[in-house]
Amino acid sequence: MATLLFMSVLLILSFLSLLLILYTLIQSKIRPARKVLNPGPTSYPIIGCLISFYKNRRRLLDWYTDMLSVSASQTIIISRFGARRTIVTANPQNVEYILKTNFTNFPKGKPFTEILGDFLGNGIFNVDGDLWYAQRKLVIHHFNAKSLKDSYVENILKEEVEKKLLPVLESAAAECKILDLQDLLRRLAFDLVCKVSLGYDPCCLEYNSLDKTHPIVEAFDLASEMCARRNAAPLSATWKFKRFLDLGSEKRLREAIKIIHLFINEIIRGRIGLINQSREEKSDLLSKMVLDGEEDGIMRDTMISFIMAGRDTTSSAMTWLFYLLSCHPDVENEVVKEIKVFEDEDLLKYESLKELRWLKACICESMRLFPPVAWDSKHAVDNDFLPDGTRVQAGDRVTYFPYGMGRMKDLWGEDRFEFKPGRWISEMEDGRIKALKNVGPYKFPVFQAGPRACLGKEMAFVQMKYVVASILKRFVIRPVTANRPVFVPLLTAHMARGFKVLVQRR
Ligand code: HEM
Repeated sequence: MATLLFMSVLLILSFLSLLLILYTLIQSKIRPARKVLNPGPTSYPIIGCLISFYKNRRRLLDWYTDMLSVSASQTIIISRFGARRTIVTANPQNVEYILKTNFTNFPKGKPFTEILGDFLGNGIFNVDGDLWYAQRKLVIHHFNAKSLKDSYVENILKEEVEKKLLPVLESAAAECKILDLQDLLRRLAFDLVCKVSLGYDPCCLEYNSLDKTHPIVEAFDLASEMCARRNAAPLSATWKFKRFLDLGSEKRLREAIKIIHLFINEIIRGRIGLINQSREEKSDLLSKMVLDGEEDGIMRDTMISFIMAGRDTTSSAMTWLFYLLSCHPDVENEVVKEIKVFEDEDLLKYESLKELRWLKACICESMRLFPPVAWDSKHAVDNDFLPDGTRVQAGDRVTYFPYGMGRMKDLWGEDRFEFKPGRWISEMEDGRIKALKNVGPYKFPVFQAGPRACLGKEMAFVQMKYVVASILKRFVIRPVTANRPVFVPLLTAHMARGFKVLVQRR
């Protein structure tokens, strides 16, 4: 009996040693000829870094940031059982290489587009190659300076802010009512992006309906959450199997997508009818697509991508900005001083918004610390090397990481964790800011960069300046608790449990 036990232990030990030798051999074969710069977290044969990944699963952003800040070239490699090899980089040269220099080797890739495919279809956000390029060409004209000035600022923004947002804040101030500013800004951004893309106002931001959520917003929220769950599933086969059986989260996703499709298809049909009757020129993207004779399916998918791109990004950026300003009243006073130089009616003109340089510095500084898109991944088509020598294998997930980049000492200095908008100023004249620094898009890729850079960047800045200036000119916003808010990075980042504030007239 004892001999049998001894033999079994010996057999198991021999098997384990064999595995270890095999693993070491394979590692030494696939290891790059160049120096391994960034081994990442402690890894073990077969399971990889599964143990430390699990331990840090609720603080992945800071875990990655900690590892990146001690890595020689700000790049780490994460290999764990059940997930593809992932390279995470906060190195601007690597980011430039992925997003521009060798753009075609780093598309979003099937693992990404598969997860969002049921929801986003073939919309610009979820396709690569020719399909992506054709849509980019189609919608890029919608974002020129003229349409931003004529239609967006002087028409859409003015109406939404003056007729809806400010009255809500006015009533809350008069009634000393606590508001969730994040929710309010999300409602505003949703109404705005629907007006720009669909030419339709779902009126989510109405004082009387603040305690309710519009069914279409609910459907968008649910679809995004369920897709984020797909992304977090340990194995993609799990959600695919659930989809096949139409169970749980997959059933809810299917139902949410059905609501979204019905809603948008109805608007498309209505618009086609209207335009056929009176070929009147309208400024929204859908009307332009109808006039161009685009297919219904393409129009629907483009609309969904646009709404997703524009709805939560600006509201997230502004929520964190209001939080940071509330912690730095001196910085806020400077913003108010800058705004007050303008008369009321001049302040909100397109040209005056360009003069709000201190406010722009505050917005950039806030997004450096709390980027609305905290990380973004591509998938390598072929084997490759990043400029720092990191070896890429075909199929690897390659993630550029704006959240970590905003916290790298090499990029932003010793005071990188502090909110200091002054770091964005390059030139002063007579006590006024003459110019802001031209920080490269690969050092600060919050809007991505290269051929696939965010199309709404200018629109987003115009919107954020307009909204923040309109609010700060009239109101003081103060959080109701002194607790540090929690940054949650889903598809778009947000503040956990909202941002509860009291509004006072300034
Ligand atoms: C602070 C606000 C914003 C931030 C930080 C932001 C950031 C980004 C990022 C990181 C991407 C790349 C996503 C990816 O490829 O996976 C992107 C793409 C895009 N964004 Fe934005 N965005 C903002 C606002 C907007 C707005 C307001 C719109 C339009 C209404 C918009 C329209 C788009 C579009 C159409 C794309 C796809 C571009 C392409 O794939 O060619 N964005 N944005």
